[in-house]
Amino acid sequence: MATEEQYDKETIDSKLMIDHDYDGIKELDNPPPAWLMIIFYATIVWSVFYVFYYHIYYDDSDLPDDLKIYGEQVSDYNESVEEAIAKMPVSTFDETSIELLMDEASLTEGLTLYATKTCDVCHGASNIGPNLNDNHWINGITPEEVFKTIKYGIPEKGMTAFKTQMTDLQIHQVTSHILTTLKGAESTNTKGPEGEKHE
Ligand code: HEC
Repeated sequence: MATEEQYDKETIDSKLMIDHDYDGIKELDNPPPAWLMIIFYATIVWSVFYVFYYHIYYDDSDLPDDLKIYGEQVSDYNESVEEAIAKMPVSTFDETSIELLMDEASLTEGLTLYATKTCDVCHGASNIGPNLNDNHWINGITPEEVFKTIKYGIPEKGMTAFKTQMTDLQIHQVTSHILTTLKGAESTNTKGPEGEKHE
């Protein structure tokens, strides 16, 4: 049995043996399987199309130098971002005409936001900002004015702009909370009146 196998192997080897000899080292002509060669040649063909499409056909003249290497992928990415932005809901909130929210859920949400967005730290505990629970107001008391103060802030006077930290709806809720519950309540009013009196 063993001899037979050896005989076969030798026969095969002698058929595959390539006709050269480097210091006694010989080589068999033993090609890789067809499927592997097919994949190998396919990648070469593919690379020709790839180089043509991404590096020759694609116009990258308007891309910054450091992004040129990514070619087509950059504009694909930008397109996806534009599509995603287009799908985002557009805020239809009109800041110039605001009705206060009077329902329980909105006012509770406003109260929660007043604490979680640290409003109470400046407008209460530390007295950095004016108290919001009397009838004296510096920047007006209409819903539009209060909304604007919170959204855009008064940076030069130390009032943060909350437009990146809160949605329009949240600012609307907190505005409603301030004007329906806090204003005029005089409850924990530790800081004296500031601004004009509004009843
Ligand atoms: C870093 C401290 C600080 C934080 C935090 C802060 N405020 Fe203020 N806020 C101020 C200061 C200071 C003023 C006074 C601005 C001025 O003098 O015009 C002010 C003014 C206001 C006014 C106008 C008051 C008036 O008399 O006209 C409102 C309304 C107000 N803040 C609401 C809020 C709300 C709501 C939050 C939380 C979402 C908040 N603030 C968070 C410091 C702060």
